[in-house]
Amino acid sequence: MLFRSFVRVAALLSVVDAAPTERPSAPKGSAQALADPNYGPIPGQDPLYNDERGRAAPFPANFTAAILPTTHGPPGVDDQMWQNLLAAEWVIYAFYQNAVELFNKTSFEEAGYHNYTYDRIQEIRDNEAGHLRIFQNEISSNSVKPGACQYDFGLKDPTTFLAIATLLEISAMAFLTGLTQQAQLPFSRGALLAIGETESRHNTWLLIDVWKADPFGGPSDTIFPYANQILSTTSAFVVPGSCPPENPGFPTPDQHLPTFGVDKRDTSLTPGSHVYLDFSAPHHNLHFDAECEYYAVFFHGVTNITVPFNTKDNSTTIPAEFEEKGVIIAVIADKPGAPTQESVIAGPGIILEQPSFLAIALASA
Ligand SMILES: *[C@@H]1O[C@H](CO)[C@@H](O)[C@H](O)[C@H]1NC(C)=O
Ligand SMILES: *[C@@H]1O[C@H](CO)[C@@H](O)[C@H](O)[C@H]1NC(C)=O
Ligand SMILES: *[C@@H]1O[C@H](CO)[C@@H](O)[C@H](O)[C@H]1NC(C)=O
Ligand SMILES: *[C@@H]1O[C@H](CO)[C@@H](O)[C@H](O)[C@H]1NC(C)=O
Ligand SMILES: *[C@@H]1O[C@H](CO)[C@@H](O)[C@H](O)[C@H]1NC(C)=O
Repeated sequence: MLFRSFVRVAALLSVVDAAPTERPSAPKGSAQALADPNYGPIPGQDPLYNDERGRAAPFPANFTAAILPTTHGPPGVDDQMWQNLLAAEWVIYAFYQNAVELFNKTSFEEAGYHNYTYDRIQEIRDNEAGHLRIFQNEISSNSVKPGACQYDFGLKDPTTFLAIATLLEISAMAFLTGLTQQAQLPFSRGALLAIGETESRHNTWLLIDVWKADPFGGPSDTIFPYANQILSTTSAFVVPGSCPPENPGFPTPDQHLPTFGVDKRDTSLTPGSHVYLDFSAPHHNLHFDAECEYYAVFFHGVTNITVPFNTKDNSTTIPAEFEEKGVIIAVIADKPGAPTQESVIAGPGIILEQPSFLAIALASA
């Protein structure tokens, strides 16, 4: 299962256009005012990032333009990592904001969920707005802070939304383990861990309260070292050509790997299942050389397991050794263990194992 195979119907999220940016002295009401980290509500000190209600975009998402550098000089050592994360956070924030706009308290109640589910979704949306502000502030004043694009999630009903939210939260937990390996400053690593913990709380709430599942995901969640490969799959939600022109490419660098979903023949994605992969359509650059061996490398917890990938029918087997918990991340590689980013030739595919009934429901969506 991966992001690209989600149903993508018409629900287009239109984010409010921000006021035009002006330099050097930014008037209030312009996104450029956000270059000052002390402008507006401060995450951890303002209830806006917890308890804001309603369909209006909360700060800082009520400003969607890119924030331009205010000083000249070399970028901060972790700027590129934070820029990638801020661009990814706009996707995640917009996903929740889209749900807040599309649904209401009654929609969740009628779908059989608790009467406070819409409140929790608004609270998660508010937390994600806080992440936007935190990431803006981590990018130095020498670098641009990416603004919002338009996104298309194809959201239709509360149950599909909650299922994708579960997948998104656990995927965020995984790519944060990779970004932590890119970050150079100890403070950045600590901040990334704290954000991952927040996503884990969101995921835990979904598991307990929405899915009535055991919330524990094994002794360790999944480490995936090549975070940009996951971020790249989220760019499928971005409406082409809709990003502010000042935004850097997302992600940077991007390997533009072909991704894959599961095939109609697959009826189970649990460990031990034999699965057929369906490579994403726009990528004609994937070519399997008859002379070479290819491998499916599966990451779960702190380890990975390599199994053969059969290029005759594009099939492989999810390692039976893994527990049916949390998330398993699969890539196709030309070396066992996918020891370098370059050894990955397709993927990643995100396989949700918990709750297991969601895995195949999402895959067939
Ligand atoms: C955005 O939200 C902040 C905080 O609620 C508010 O002070 C500001 O006026 C809003 N700006 C715009 C342009 O909506
Ligand atoms: C929720 O949305 C439905 C469908 O759009 C609408 O009929 C209903 O009145 C709304 N309920 C509330 C509490 O806003
Ligand atoms: C939800 O329903 C319970 C009773 O079933 C009620 O006590 C509670 O106030 C309701 N909460 C909300 C947010 O509507
Ligand atoms: C396997 O995938 C490759 C790359 O997309 C494709 O060219 C090939 O036709 C597929 N093979 C089968 C048997 O579907
Ligand atoms: C996968 O596991 C193997 C064997 O432990 C290891 O050598 C390799 O570096 C791991 N791959 C990644 C990407 O961590």
